[in-house]
Amino acid sequence: MTSIFFSPRGTTKKTARAILGHQEKVLERDLLGRPLTEEWTLPAGEPVLVSMPVYAGRIPSICREMLLAHLKGHGNPAIAVAVYGNRDYDDALVELQDLLEENGFCVIAGAAFVAQHSIFTKVAAGRPDEDDRRRMAEFGAMCREKLSGFDPDAHTPIHIKGNRPYKKAKGVPFQPECNQNCMKCYACAKNCPTHSIPLETPWLTRTDTCISCGACIYLCPTQARGYRGPVFEVAAKGFEAMCAKRREPELFF
Ligand SMILES: Cc1cc2nc3c(=O)[nH]c(=O)nc-3n(C[C@H](O)[C@H](O)[C@H](O)COP(=O)(O)O)c2cc1C
Repeated sequence: MTSIFFSPRGTTKKTARAILGHQEKVLERDLLGRPLTEEWTLPAGEPVLVSMPVYAGRIPSICREMLLAHLKGHGNPAIAVAVYGNRDYDDALVELQDLLEENGFCVIAGAAFVAQHSIFTKVAAGRPDEDDRRRMAEFGAMCREKLSGFDPDAHTPIHIKGNRPYKKAKGVPFQPECNQNCMKCYACAKNCPTHSIPLETPWLTRTDTCISCGACIYLCPTQARGYRGPVFEVAAKGFEAMCAKRREPELFF
């Protein structure tokens, strides 16, 4: 099994690991640390789990571009997973399904799981929790069963919730800011997936390229980076109220 994920704040990676459990042979590919820059065709028959965080109801645009350009299959079975912050996953999961099918994979299962919102961190705080992890493990077991009888010649696309055409992703109006705690260790600049933090001035952020993924906040050893300011605080309160109702995992086969 190959497990591919993008997980700037860690919950998508945790979800992928909880789905697969302790399988001996899992090859992990973290697109944050190791972006795809050249064609990668999976060996015949090798199943793949692709797990993506939801950004504005879609999969992150940088991942879409990378996967579409470089990840190829020849009838390999694939599992599509979207991880979202308790607002909604909108069209992210069908987008991932379509992308994988277009590149030669047969999507045999899909799931949307909830995790702490990586911008508004009071939303879905503590998730995935015990119940979520149990559902993730159950989903993994159901996928293994479906994989055991998989025949690419008999594949017809499964139904996954979402709209086609997909809704247009709106940009996020907040970007991480840096305060005086910055000790210029450059961890943020070296790991930013869009190179939006200049090495010479790591306390700044290029607002035109930053995708607000929050990897820099997660990696910063001195908590210098974060979403801050009165406008953010007001937006956070409104968002917390809007997304207070607990959403549950949704599975598709
Ligand atoms: C730029 C951005 C946009 C987001 N958009 C949504 C969204 O549309 N719906 C939602 O429920 N959560 C949204 N989230 C929350 C993430 O999907 C969620 O926190 C996810 O678990 C983050 O994954 P990670 O911990 O692997 O980085 C967004 C987060 C970011 C950073």
